[in-house]
Amino acid sequence: MHIGVLGTGTVGRTLAQALVDRGHEVRMGARAAGNEKAVAWAQSGGPLASEGSFADAAAFGELVINATAGAASLDALEMAGAEQLAGKVLIDVANPLDFSQGMPPTLTVCNDDSLGERIQRAFGDLHVVKTLNTVTASVMVAPDSLAGTHTMFMCGNDADAKAQATILLEGFGWPSASILDLGDITAARGMEMYLPLWLRIYSAKGTAVVNVEVRALTA
Ligand SMILES: NC(=O)c1ccc[n+]([C@@H]2O[C@H](COP(=O)([O-])OP(=O)(O)OC[C@H]3O[C@@H](n4cnc5c(N)ncnc54)[C@H](OP(=O)(O)O)[C@@H]3O)[C@@H](O)[C@H]2O)c1
Repeated sequence: MHIGVLGTGTVGRTLAQALVDRGHEVRMGARAAGNEKAVAWAQSGGPLASEGSFADAAAFGELVINATAGAASLDALEMAGAEQLAGKVLIDVANPLDFSQGMPPTLTVCNDDSLGERIQRAFGDLHVVKTLNTVTASVMVAPDSLAGTHTMFMCGNDADAKAQATILLEGFGWPSASILDLGDITAARGMEMYLPLWLRIYSAKGTAVVNVEVRALTA
């Protein structure tokens, strides 16, 4: 599959490499083609790896991943271009964190709205699936780095898009029984508001390699 990864940070590079390792052709996008980190990744990533602008990556991808800084994701997607994104599945892993007042970050949107919803509203014919935002980058692509079973949340309005996202997650090693579909894109509120709790768990356990498991009376 051709996949566009918007983002040159740890998440973008981790996901892009994991996808290339699984045989996908991946173009990493940045604000401008020739981004230092994107070029370095494309050079080391093998023949299936390439880089360009956000628009180049979005046009390249049959499926697109938003791994940009959450506070800037709408701007980044504007740069990617509505016409490049039209009709595609967008896996949104971003968290709308505001670090401007230092640590801990606050959320730029919460309670009755979310970044996932804002993206879906701004790009009506994009099929937004929110997932992977609740674990650190290394766990996204290697869930077995944590012993036992643990939960990956997902939400979005389009069943086919969520089915595609599920295949991608399974490719990273997430067992289907661990993927919890929380419903439509408004569930992104809770998935994003989980971040303050995640930060405290990280602090309490002294490692980012952490996750939670949802257990219920009926599996
Ligand atoms: N780090 C993790 O383990 C983790 C885990 C779960 C979720 N997340 C979420 O995943 C996303 C990516 O995280 P990250 O740590 O890999 O990278 P990041 O530093 O949060 O974001 C880097 C990307 O954001 C773009 N960007 C920054 N400011 C921008 C602006 N003003 N306009 C347009 N684009 C802008 C950068 O573009 P350029 O390439 O042009 O510089 C770069 O591609 C974030 O939303 C984060 O909250 C991170």
